[in-house]
Amino acid sequence: MVTASEEYSFTSFSNLPFYTKVNERLLDLAQVGKQRKIVDLGCGTGGITKLILERLQSAKDTVIYAVDHSTTALKVAAEEIGDRKDVAINYVHSEVQNLAGAVKDKVDAIVYCNSIHYVPDKTALVEQIKEKLVPSGIFAFNTSFYEGSHPDDSLVFFRKWMMRSLRILKREYGLSIDKSQKVESRVQLTADNYIELVENAGFKVVVNDFNRVEVPHEGWHHISGFSDWIEGVMPGVPLDVGRQSLQKGLAQIWDEMNLKTVPRVWFSVSAAKV
Ligand SMILES: C[S@@+](CC[C@H](N)C(=O)[O-])C[C@H]1O[C@@H](n2cnc3c(N)ncnc32)[C@H](O)[C@@H]1O
Repeated sequence: MVTASEEYSFTSFSNLPFYTKVNERLLDLAQVGKQRKIVDLGCGTGGITKLILERLQSAKDTVIYAVDHSTTALKVAAEEIGDRKDVAINYVHSEVQNLAGAVKDKVDAIVYCNSIHYVPDKTALVEQIKEKLVPSGIFAFNTSFYEGSHPDDSLVFFRKWMMRSLRILKREYGLSIDKSQKVESRVQLTADNYIELVENAGFKVVVNDFNRVEVPHEGWHHISGFSDWIEGVMPGVPLDVGRQSLQKGLAQIWDEMNLKTVPRVWFSVSAAKV
């Protein structure tokens, strides 16, 4: 049986093949796998932790710190990954903002997938990330929540989807969103802001990459069942009602527009501590 919080987790989205590809690309660009000590920041239900484990060149003496503030997500991650005798995996329950205290070791790489946009004070966080890395250590992150992540040819779809979902919310459930509860992930930086952020902290940007991804119906469907997404696009609305409104709206608009996929751009950065 799934619990209420597992039901609104990121797992079903995270397991979609297109999403795996996006993150494989980041790990490739940042050459993650040859390091011995790696932090998976904002690890969620372990989708990226698994990808890191698959590419470890030598599991012996390797340590992974999987950090998240959601105990439910960490529990799912530990279940999904199971026992590994060859590599030490530490599940660390912490706000990423407390990284300095939560992970005592210095590490060779910090991977941060689809989560950096959540943090209000990114400058302080990136400072901590730098302190946690050995010299020349790698900080690799990606996000699809930055100014520019919605290509022009996706805007009509988004507008129609949101309008239809809000109409369903109103008509079928008698509810409206509460704009005063707008969350931080909706306040978006530009790609240049992100580059400036890491350079100002003392990193050398080795790769910055824009990846236009054709997201299939199930991507939008599953993301509509993720609590953080629902809270982002439907602030103040109960999760079950938000999910139903978004998924109904999606199904209608998808058919009406005869869509196969809708694009989204992921921005990835790999930076070395200098
Ligand atoms: C979109 S999910 C990404 C999960 C994973 N990195 C992946 O790509 O599959 C974002 C994760 O960041 C976590 N998160 C958000 N804000 C956080 C914070 N301030 N401290 C720790 N974890 C946080 C959430 O609990 C969630 O598991």
